[in-house]
Amino acid sequence: MQVVIDILENEIIEKYPDILEILLRDQTTQKNIFWATDNYEHLGDSYKFNSEILFSSITGENGNIIMPRVYKDKVLQLSRSKEMAEVFTPSWICNAQNNAVDNSWFGRENVFNKEILLENGTKSWETTKEKIFFPKDKTWQDYILDTRLEITCGEAPYLVSRYDTTTGESINIENRIGLLDRKLRVINENVNSEKEWINAVEVAYKNIYGFEWQGDSLLLAREALLITFIENFTYKFETEPTLETIKNIAHIISWNIWQMDGLKGVIPNSCKDEIIETATIFETQTEIRKCKGCEKQDLKKIKFHNGIYCNIMDWGIEQPIRFIDLLEK
Ligand SMILES: C[S@@+](CC[C@H](N)C(=O)[O-])C[C@H]1O[C@@H](n2cnc3c(N)ncnc32)[C@H](O)[C@@H]1O
Repeated sequence: MQVVIDILENEIIEKYPDILEILLRDQTTQKNIFWATDNYEHLGDSYKFNSEILFSSITGENGNIIMPRVYKDKVLQLSRSKEMAEVFTPSWICNAQNNAVDNSWFGRENVFNKEILLENGTKSWETTKEKIFFPKDKTWQDYILDTRLEITCGEAPYLVSRYDTTTGESINIENRIGLLDRKLRVINENVNSEKEWINAVEVAYKNIYGFEWQGDSLLLAREALLITFIENFTYKFETEPTLETIKNIAHIISWNIWQMDGLKGVIPNSCKDEIIETATIFETQTEIRKCKGCEKQDLKKIKFHNGIYCNIMDWGIEQPIRFIDLLEK
């Protein structure tokens, strides 16, 4: 299967109507996700730091505006590294770290692949060909239910690995190494009925989370998770999934891959100075009250921000919960 790296927004709307609107949704604010970067401000008012990413801003003649970091020009890459610490992780490192998680879960090594050293000194991996077997006390269903989160996910290379985010090299389905890719491999190996496959895959998506500050990277991450679903369905059943099924997955993604300032648990830059005016008979006094959480960058003060705390979905009870409330658990 040909893996196309830069997912074009125009192609999404042409092939899968309504899906892009779902991928642009911010489930906390019930608006769209916003740019949260000034990299696009030169394009006009709709591209300002605080502007929502509108359907019209990234489709039609604007369909090429959002592109993966690897295709962004070098000057822009550098400024994003300086301003937002944007440095993406090569796939072999994501693989090594994801392997460490699985080594501990399975209680053995080389479950999904074996890491190898290449002649040029870089590293890679060789995928195991045999069907994965599970430890005595665990099942494949336990594996897809185990929840994983990629913090500050960028284009989400730890979750899905359609391409190496540092080189742009595409990776075919059998050799992918992301945390979600691994769940999908397990499902592909254990389920053959289409209905059961879709149910299991929905469970897998509900147990994969990621958050990111910058709106463009966040959209790329969401698109990558969605196209990964379509590619896996097509790989397994040799036909495309229905639009309804794609919509369900897009809805889950719009909750689970969300926009947040990870240091504060709020929508980026949503904390504000409050202006308190007190009127006496002689004068009006104005006091500027800073956000208590922001006054000191202290994670212990994470509950004292006055910004908009981000909600995520607890799929077990189908209720939104505040992300920061999970930190107490
Ligand atoms: C070093 S990159 C890592 C991206 C990806 N996880 C990877 O390994 O390739 C860091 C990412 O964190 C994001 N970021 C920086 N500060 C953040 C914050 N306070 N909250 C959420 N994301 C943030 C940046 O936009 C950038 O995409």
